[in-house]
Amino acid sequence: MKAQDSSLSHCPCSMGDRCRLIQPYGGRLEESFARASERPELMQRLSSLPRVQLTRSEFRDLMMLGSGAYSPLTGFMDRQTYREVCEAQLLPSGLPWGLPVTLAATKRLVARLEAGQEAALYFNDEPVALLRLQEIFPWDPLAEAKAVYAADDIDHPVLAERSKARKHYLLAGPVRLVVATDSRLLAKEHLWPKNARCLFVERDWTRVAAVHANHLWHRAHEYLLKSALETSDALLFHTPTEPPRHEGALSSKVVAEARDILLRRFFPRDRVLWTHFAADVTAYGGRRAILHQAIVSQNYGCGHLILLPDNPISESHGVVQDRHAAVRWPEAGPAITPVVLSSAFHCDACGGAATGKSCPHNEEQRSRMSEEAVFDKLLAGEHLPSQVARPEIARALSRAVSSLFADKVIKRGRHIFPHAAEVSKEFRQTAAGHKAAILWMTGLSGSGKSTIARRVEKELLMSGHRIFVLDGDGLRNGLCRDLDFSRDARRENLRRAAEVAKIMLESGTLVIASFISPFREERQMVREIIGKGFFEVYLEASLEVCESRDPKGLYSRARAGIIPEFTGVSSPYEPPPTPDMRVNTVARSIDECARQLLGDMARAGLLRMTRFDRYLAEKKGSSPYVVQRN
Ligand code: ADX
Repeated sequence: MKAQDSSLSHCPCSMGDRCRLIQPYGGRLEESFARASERPELMQRLSSLPRVQLTRSEFRDLMMLGSGAYSPLTGFMDRQTYREVCEAQLLPSGLPWGLPVTLAATKRLVARLEAGQEAALYFNDEPVALLRLQEIFPWDPLAEAKAVYAADDIDHPVLAERSKARKHYLLAGPVRLVVATDSRLLAKEHLWPKNARCLFVERDWTRVAAVHANHLWHRAHEYLLKSALETSDALLFHTPTEPPRHEGALSSKVVAEARDILLRRFFPRDRVLWTHFAADVTAYGGRRAILHQAIVSQNYGCGHLILLPDNPISESHGVVQDRHAAVRWPEAGPAITPVVLSSAFHCDACGGAATGKSCPHNEEQRSRMSEEAVFDKLLAGEHLPSQVARPEIARALSRAVSSLFADKVIKRGRHIFPHAAEVSKEFRQTAAGHKAAILWMTGLSGSGKSTIARRVEKELLMSGHRIFVLDGDGLRNGLCRDLDFSRDARRENLRRAAEVAKIMLESGTLVIASFISPFREERQMVREIIGKGFFEVYLEASLEVCESRDPKGLYSRARAGIIPEFTGVSSPYEPPPTPDMRVNTVARSIDECARQLLGDMARAGLLRMTRFDRYLAEKKGSSPYVVQRN
């Protein structure tokens, strides 16, 4: 049996004892705000009291306390309550409680305060509440991080912010809210717990489900939420009053517009309600955070708490199981019923969104796209497939990304219709007599990339191959002359080079691309751009050897500090762990290296082979492409 039964008598709604809504947590909605008639006098009093400035998250907690969303709490936690919540997730009354609700202060401020007196709470330089200060006690952020967030550091934004501001004390005591200064909290559509309860009763709703989520733009979200709405009278959305501090791939500004379009245009207006009272808890707190959401939602009169998967499209079974476990709070805990939803995806065979529970098809027919992948697509100026997001939402996301990340977004794809060729790739290859491929040479400056590439090029041209060397220095004088050697510029340099190489690949050419390409991640990008036909060739030579060669005198200039971000000196080189081909150029002649590479190319089936070549190769047991010494 849950602690509260549903025959209620303490709902503050107009129905009194006849109300059938779930009871507030702890039995009563503990509102603590000043009525209009009391306000002038209270404001007067506040002006003469010592001031305590609230942070945004403290202000939000204050609003939750004042409105009754945190019932049965009526103020910031005292030492005993704080300790019991941290250690045992319980209030002293024995009611489960997940997260501390505290107000922090500096030593300097504490020196001016005394337990037993009153203080004025200020937010954005406006008086917002009266605090009856009952206790002042020291605060240890690391102990809280360990106990509440199971963390060994104080990365949690609230803890980090307080520590930075040297707030090492907590102020405890009941509050009396005077005014809500935040315009969103004053908005007509934003509900307080009592308003919500009255509205539910007025509309004869008994099954209102709460949703604490912000990122609602994906078709999968829509599917899950609509499924939830089918079995509820209405959904109450708790969306934060501020951007979440732990940003995912899509910043909250980006998602806000998309979320609004989804909920306002594709959900029935009268069955979707809003409150901006949402604890920003998704990324921290796990089980405690869910308990926190449950308590707030119950105080709002919601009988169900919808738990969307953190990542609605790809969540492991384990994560879902964890969430099931997290909602099994003690008997005395919230009476609200948690509803754990599984991840959704688009299934081509079903022709729409589905979950593993409802779709009988296999993984190949399901398409999933993570938020990170969506963000990358938007940055690349690409359109989101309609299975991922509704076109109007995709446009909103794209607009938001374009305006927020204007410098990064690549505009493309509009009004462009590539014309299909009349000649197939295979025909091009037959015409050249060999396959097309890209040998992507990577290695330090001075490792021999260009020299060996040129030698191989000459050899193959002379034996009738269609071959071309694409060289870093060459491109940097023309196509890439606007780029320097910063990480971003190198990435763009290599992206352009890869696109050029890809076009040449399509033309049936063998391309030797010679670029330092120092970072693994960027080489992976090149591999992805080019796709089939890409071979990574590592020109292996130690920094000492390259530096002693120093053919262009660049190392000595880099050491002298004349060339910044020079690979090997002031910028790293990450050797490829498993290249497709490897040529060690230390203590070997150019010819030997070139011959080795030609052999590797022949073995990979990239070179022209006449019947005579084949005969020679078999006879000699080596590659026919032997370089003559000059
Ligand atoms: S990459 O790192 O962006 O792939 P890329 O191969 O195009 O480099 O160009 C490297 C060539 O640029 C070198 O061979 C060298 O001649 C010249 N260069 C000039 N400044 C630098 C630098 N800071 N780091 C590396 N190479 C540089």
